[in-house]
Amino acid sequence: MSAIEGQILNQLAISKDSSFNTYEFASNLPPDYGVSHENIVGTSKSLAGDGYVIMKSSKIDYWELTDEGRTVLREGSQEAKCFKAIKASGEGGLDRKDLEEAVGKGAAKVGMGNCMKNKWIAKEGDKMKAKATDIEDIVQIQLSKLSGCANPEDNGAVLPGKDASLLKKRKLVVGKSRTSYDVTRGPEYAEERVKKAADLTKEMIDSGAWETTKFKAYNFKTVGEKVGGGYLHPLLKVRAEFRKILCQMGFEEMPTNKWVESSFWNFDTLFQPQSHPARDAHDTFFIKDPAQTVSVPKDYYSRVVKMHEEGGSGSIGYRYNFKPSDARKNLLRTHTTAVSSQMLYKLANQEGGFQPRRYFSIDRVFRNESMDATHLCEFHQVEGLVADYNLSLGDLIGTIETFFKKIGITQLRFKPAFNPYTEPSMEIFGYHPDLKKWTEIGNSGMFRPEMLAPMGLPPNVRVIAWGLSLERPTMIKYRIKNIRDLFGHKVELARTKTAPVCRFD
Ligand code: PHE
Repeated sequence: MSAIEGQILNQLAISKDSSFNTYEFASNLPPDYGVSHENIVGTSKSLAGDGYVIMKSSKIDYWELTDEGRTVLREGSQEAKCFKAIKASGEGGLDRKDLEEAVGKGAAKVGMGNCMKNKWIAKEGDKMKAKATDIEDIVQIQLSKLSGCANPEDNGAVLPGKDASLLKKRKLVVGKSRTSYDVTRGPEYAEERVKKAADLTKEMIDSGAWETTKFKAYNFKTVGEKVGGGYLHPLLKVRAEFRKILCQMGFEEMPTNKWVESSFWNFDTLFQPQSHPARDAHDTFFIKDPAQTVSVPKDYYSRVVKMHEEGGSGSIGYRYNFKPSDARKNLLRTHTTAVSSQMLYKLANQEGGFQPRRYFSIDRVFRNESMDATHLCEFHQVEGLVADYNLSLGDLIGTIETFFKKIGITQLRFKPAFNPYTEPSMEIFGYHPDLKKWTEIGNSGMFRPEMLAPMGLPPNVRVIAWGLSLERPTMIKYRIKNIRDLFGHKVELARTKTAPVCRFD
């Protein structure tokens, strides 16, 4: 029990009618006691919550002197000042200019009229002359009554209403009000507060104390604590939606949970020559430790080497000396196609032989690029592929059109392009209704025989594939201009918490 609680309960025990007013109670405490009216009200409310006391609010109106009111209280009213000045001028009297000089322009303006009304002065020609011998400065007296009250916040009834409203009209006082409470004993009143138990414990049950213990009532009106659970990042919201769309289209997700790959899977299996500029440290993050991969599938490896060096399946290859150490170099994968390649290899070599499949993945890739408003060193790729007998470029275009239609992009154009691992290759352009222009939204193609043959896929199996970034559609969807607002350490957490779910319709 706190000291204030004790005092409040005690007050209800000793006061005659077992009641008190919070404001009076607080005013009677010594000023250096450090307990304010708010403290008394707060503690009383807490006691009222447990039924110890009952509170009834009462609102009291009072008057507070304005700055001008305090000046009048100190120096006298404008009319009193005017009268004094005019009286001092004797028989000669003062004209308006003299008066303004004597008491100031403002005081002259207000005071002159009031002096006339009170018949303290009279005008003779352009001179004002005193008529009364002595005057009573009623306004000053009224203000001193208001401020001289033992408790200025109780001065509401000190003056007759019409006097007070005149002072208010002259902006010498303003009306204020304060709320205090009349506190009386409640149904649970006791001189000491016993803290109610919030929980039923094993000990209470063991000892039987639960039967007499007073428990806190449940407060069903309280606002529940905010659940600090996880929130999906906007990128993940779009990923969830893409995943749903691709699953509906019969695609299975590929395991992309490994960021480190060997150059073999990331480049060589994709028929990307070892001299290709993308395999430079300027474009790719190579891993220092472990710098080299431990193993690659042996037979497949030699078929890949052969394809690079000599060709096969109607290709003349690249005709250079394949460097095993380059193939073993570890790196942060530069595209998820490194995983597609592994999945196709598995598909070709699974028990029972090749079966047609649709695969997709949405995951992170890394490129050693200089960063700006639209580029980071890491981003996310959405990749899809279909492996089946005798697929054509028409199948690729149809599949891409279906997918993009489902994410809200209906106008597409295809432009011939080059990838080391696809032929033909097409860049995908979509019409951006906000920007009102065609923008590149993806890349695609049919995997080359030089890539598929060494895996052991039957010769009439074709693989169509396409890829796009997850960031581009997310930025469009959430209207984010700078990629740094979407991804990385500068992202505002609040934005992640409040970003709406992503729906494409
Ligand atoms: N790997 C390509 C890229 O990084 C995307 C792609 C995937 C292109 C599949 C063609 C086929 O941009």
